[in-house]
Amino acid sequence: MRILTREIVNLAGEDVELSGWVHARRDHGKLIFIDIRDRGGIAQVVFTPSAKETYEEATKLRPEWVIRVRGKVAARPENMRNPKIETGNYEIQASDLHVWNEAATPPIPLDTDGYEIDEEVRFKYRYLDLRRERLAKNMRMRYAVTSFMREFLGKRGFVEIETPILSKSTPEGARDYLVPSRVYPGNFYALPQSPQQYKQLLMVAGFERYFQIARCFRDEDTRGDRQPEFTQLDLEMSFTNQDEVMALIEELFTALVEKLFPEHHIQEKPFPRIEYAEAMKKYKSDKPDLRKNPKDAKELAFAFVVNFPMFEWKETEQRWDAVHHPFTMPQVKDAKEFREMFSAEGGSASGGKKDPSKILAFQYDLVLNGYEIGGGSIRIHDPALLQAVFEVMGNKKEDIEAKFGHLLQAFTYGVPPHGGMAPGIDRFIMLMMGEPNIREVIAFPKTGDGRDPMMGAPSPAEPAQLKELKLRTEK
Ligand code: AMO
Repeated sequence: MRILTREIVNLAGEDVELSGWVHARRDHGKLIFIDIRDRGGIAQVVFTPSAKETYEEATKLRPEWVIRVRGKVAARPENMRNPKIETGNYEIQASDLHVWNEAATPPIPLDTDGYEIDEEVRFKYRYLDLRRERLAKNMRMRYAVTSFMREFLGKRGFVEIETPILSKSTPEGARDYLVPSRVYPGNFYALPQSPQQYKQLLMVAGFERYFQIARCFRDEDTRGDRQPEFTQLDLEMSFTNQDEVMALIEELFTALVEKLFPEHHIQEKPFPRIEYAEAMKKYKSDKPDLRKNPKDAKELAFAFVVNFPMFEWKETEQRWDAVHHPFTMPQVKDAKEFREMFSAEGGSASGGKKDPSKILAFQYDLVLNGYEIGGGSIRIHDPALLQAVFEVMGNKKEDIEAKFGHLLQAFTYGVPPHGGMAPGIDRFIMLMMGEPNIREVIAFPKTGDGRDPMMGAPSPAEPAQLKELKLRTEK
C-alpha cells in the first residue's frame, strides 16, 4: 500500500511503498540517490548495486519521472542527515522500482523559487510551475484560508449561496465581459463584476446572512494586485449597521491570522478607523500603509477607512459617479434632502450653495499594509432614494428601468436594512505569503495583458460558432 514520504519518519525498519516524482538525482560512487517527491514532501531513496535489477533500472531515472519505489526505511548515518527536510534522518533502501511514466526534461527549473524565470514561460507550463514548493504552498494556504472563512461564517449563521456567472451588467466601475446569447442573437450576458445585486436580492429573500467565495470578472488593465478574474469573500447581512459589519470582519481576520499565520503580528487591535478625509490629508492615500516598521515582513497594519465621499465628479463624462457603487447609502436624511443637494437652488454643479461632493457615504474599506483588501457599505433600502441616486448619476428614467428595474421592484416587497463587504482573497493571500503580486497565489492566472499562454486564450472563435451566434468580427 502506498504511503506518503513524510510518514516514513515513524516506520524505521519497515517495508514501505512510495509513489511520486523524481525530484533530484545524485550519484555517489556506486550508489544512486533519488529524492522522491509527493504531495507531502520529499524523501531520499538509495539504490545499491547489490539489488542488481533495480539498480540497473535506477541508472535510467531522470528528473520528473513518475515512479514507484518499494524498500526498507532506515535511519541515515549521522553524517548523512539533512535537518532541512522533514524526512532528513531517514532514507529508503530500494528493493523494487517501477516507472509509471517517463518525463521530458522540464523547460523550466522546478527546484528554485521561480522568480528568476520569465513569466510567459512559467504560465505556458503552469502545471509544472505549480510543482514548485513555493506555489504548492500558496495553493494549500489559499484552501486553508477559504476553509477557515467558511467555518467561521457558518458558525455565525451565514449561508453560502452561489449566484449566477451568466448575468447582467452590475456597476463596479470596470468594463464588463460579455457573452453572446445564441438563443437571442444580438443579446449578451455580462459576467458579474461582483455578486452585488444578487446578494442584496438574497436579503430581500430573507436569508439575512449570506456569503460566497465568489469569482468576479472585470475587464480592466491588470496590475500586480489586479486580475481580470479574481476571488472575493462576498458577504451581506440584514438588520445591521456599519460598526457591526466592521466588527465581524475584524473578528474574522484576527482569528484567521492567529490560527493560520501565528508568526505574523497584528500591529493594532482593534483595527484603527480612519476618516477618508484624514487619510487623504495625512497619507495622501485612501489605503495608507500604517506599518511602524515597513521592513518587518510579519507586521500587519490593518485599518478601516470610513466616511468616503458618496460621489466624485467625472469630468470626461460630465456627471457624478458613485465612489463605491450606487447601492451605497449616502449619509442624508431622506430622498428629499438628497435631491435638494443636486437641485438648481441647492447643487453647486448648477451654481447653488450645496456641494454634492460633500455628501458622505456609509462606505468602509479594509486596508492592510498599503493595499485595499476589502470594500463594503451599508446599502440604500429606500427605493425612492435609490431611484434618486441613479438619476443624479446621469441615468435616464427609461435606462434606470431597464438596468435596475428588477432591484427597485424587489425593494417594493419588503426589504430589510442591509449592508456587507467583500474582502479580496487573492490580495490578502499575496500579502500574507509575502508575494510580490497576486499572480503568485492564483493557480492559473492571466499575464499582464490578459492572456493565458497555456490554453492560448483568448483565441479566435470558429466561423461556425460565430455564425450560430449571428456575430461578425471586424478585421
Ligand atoms: P470592490 O470593488 O471594492 O467592492 O471590491 C472588493 C475587493 O475586491 C478586491 N478586488 C480585486 N482583486 C483582484 N483583482 C481585481 N481586479 C480586483 N478588484 C477588486 C479588492 C477589493 O477591495 N460589491 C462590492 C463589495 C461590497 O460593497 O460589498 C465590491 O466588489 O481587494
